[in-house]
Amino acid sequence: MTDGAAERGTPARVLLDCDPGIDDAFAIVFGCGHPGLDLAGLTTVSGNVNLGTVTGNALSVLELAGRPDVPVVPGSARPLLRPTLDAREVHGEGGLGAARLPAAQARPAPGHAVDYLIDTIGAAPGEITLVATGPLTNIALAVRREPRLTGWVRDFVIMGGSAGRGNVTPAAEFNIAADPEAAAIVFEAGWRVTMVGLDVTLQARAGPDVQDRIRKLGRLGADLLLPGLLGYRGEHAQAAGGAPVHDVCALALVAEPGLFGCAPARVDVETAGRWTSGMTVTDFTADPAARNALVAMTVDVPAFWDLVLDAYAAIPAAATASRS
Ligand code: RIB
Ligand code: CA
Repeated sequence: MTDGAAERGTPARVLLDCDPGIDDAFAIVFGCGHPGLDLAGLTTVSGNVNLGTVTGNALSVLELAGRPDVPVVPGSARPLLRPTLDAREVHGEGGLGAARLPAAQARPAPGHAVDYLIDTIGAAPGEITLVATGPLTNIALAVRREPRLTGWVRDFVIMGGSAGRGNVTPAAEFNIAADPEAAAIVFEAGWRVTMVGLDVTLQARAGPDVQDRIRKLGRLGADLLLPGLLGYRGEHAQAAGGAPVHDVCALALVAEPGLFGCAPARVDVETAGRWTSGMTVTDFTADPAARNALVAMTVDVPAFWDLVLDAYAAIPAAATASRS
């Protein structure tokens, strides 16, 4: 894991591949508000909801966050091989829970996400941290199309997987389960994957105290963050201690790695198991030469929420009253 933004003293330039999604939206806003991050571009992938909806959501969230300048480049509309798996039962048909943002003025950027990722990262080798918070279809296609990508990135961080239980099945977490073949390609590509999985994301829940602090964030809280959180369905809705905001953890680790405890491991993705497809099989005792991942296992939860909510407070919409 590279040094954090604070240690660097210069903002970490980040490309975010995402499937907004309530927690993707929380991550996007964090990327816009934290002074140690320079959110250079977004690519979208079919995941929580379909590609058109996640792309529209990304544009709308950026507009609310005051960053309509950030390009949004659409990518894969379906997994490499499998039928599409979505999470509408968790994020709602619109993908943002109970939040209803106006359609953005900005349009998606031309071209395909895979080419955008390769061209942008290839033009600045060693400078860009790639973060993925959705299924890994775009990332797999990019490393297959341009294997040098693995050496060009400054770092590569995903929200996905789990060293323990999954959330789609007992074995598999959604981002991996949605496209296991893509995830297998990504973990075998030769770079080190920093895996921010359920082991750590389920620790950072948005409980009543966090919700109270979000209520003080003006239009940002009223129009997106709170209705997003309260609009979570399924097991998130009844979760003791509040809903998890999985994807923010991946970007928070880039901004402030010292808040997280990570361990080196070998991670292999199951693609053939009838009951275990999409499992990230994690071996912490692997031969150092075989290790391909850094797996996040602990997080300083109070410090995490201070980091995230401070970033949200820096967003102009946090200081303006809601129109609704
Ligand atoms: O399992 C949680 C992950 O799946 C998050 O990225 C969420 O947005 C969904 O994509
Ligand atoms: Ca996501």
